[in-house]
Amino acid sequence: MPYSLDSVDTPFVAMDLDVVERNLQAMQARIDALGLKLRPHTKTHKQPWLAARQMAIGAHGLTVAKLGEAEVMLEAGFNELLIAYPLVGEAKAVRLAALMARGLKPVVAIDSREALETLARAAAIVDQPIRVLIEVDTGFHRCGLRGPAVIELARAVRQAPRLLFAGLMSYSGHISGQGDPAKIQQIIREEDEILWQHAQDLQACGVPVEIISIGGTVLAHYLASPTHATEVRPGIYVFNDLGIVHSGACRLDDCAARVWSTVVSRPAPDRAILDAGSKMLAFDGPIEGSYGYVVDYPGWHIRRLSEEHAIVEIDAGAPRPDIGQRVAVIPNHICPVINLQDRVVGVRAGQVVSTHAILGRGLTR
Ligand SMILES: Cc1ncc(COP(=O)(O)O)c(C=O)c1O
Repeated sequence: MPYSLDSVDTPFVAMDLDVVERNLQAMQARIDALGLKLRPHTKTHKQPWLAARQMAIGAHGLTVAKLGEAEVMLEAGFNELLIAYPLVGEAKAVRLAALMARGLKPVVAIDSREALETLARAAAIVDQPIRVLIEVDTGFHRCGLRGPAVIELARAVRQAPRLLFAGLMSYSGHISGQGDPAKIQQIIREEDEILWQHAQDLQACGVPVEIISIGGTVLAHYLASPTHATEVRPGIYVFNDLGIVHSGACRLDDCAARVWSTVVSRPAPDRAILDAGSKMLAFDGPIEGSYGYVVDYPGWHIRRLSEEHAIVEIDAGAPRPDIGQRVAVIPNHICPVINLQDRVVGVRAGQVVSTHAILGRGLTR
């Protein structure tokens, strides 16, 4: 039985299920039109029912970062997962092997000998093959190798028993925070050139490259043909957030998830305090001077966050809130916000219709 949002105690996260569905369909259609495969990153939503929806409308597979997330998705019946994160050490090898014994067929991205050895150990424990991608640094300067180191590691993968070299992966995270479409297009072109150069070098050494996996919601939005990529791994697109709006890849109306909060104090005429602090909104940003967008109140700016307080500065002439007023905030970056919730409510036409446990919440190991 649907019930009013007003009856839910704040702070809480509400996701508009119609906007979620629209976002899922739009991304699938966009990637289909490019002739690519969609392998959504589930670290954003952390909810198997959303993964199921992504697969039902055409996703080719799913991506996770951590083994804990893989476990949640495997438990829900998804056994082919890209682990887009280097696994290093004996504990990881043992855990990966245990998941494989339960049916997981992983593709894992690595960028070191140590990660290779971890995979080789897991594969040996269960005596099963593991497909491997090598992460290439295309300019974000996080993980990833470049040049001869990629070729050497690919050769080492091919020589390792039970490891199968499958291709290349990159994540151009430096695209986030860009508001200039020309700069975004340039990053996408550079990434494609770097990956294609590596793929050609590998093929020249007799190493076939089957998968070229690229990532991200902003990238997926601006990606155009031709590209040498074979698949894309957006995560945020399910909900979108202020960062994605800022990049020009979506509108405020496409942001499906909002943090609802209450004005709990008005200590000065130009200041209001909301009951959603960094434990709800997370610390990403600020974007245009604010830790989130207060819906319907563009003259309110969340200038600071304490753990349980958002400190809002109110422009002269902007509407002045009363204590007790409820407002919705679109977060700067939705992924950590979802990760902070035990559950979120599902909304249609402004009414709460469902509650959803965030089963992957906090699974950072
Ligand atoms: C390796 C990797 N792939 C894909 C994604 C998804 O990108 P986005 O969150 O921009 O949708 C991320 C996000 O952090 C990532 O780290």
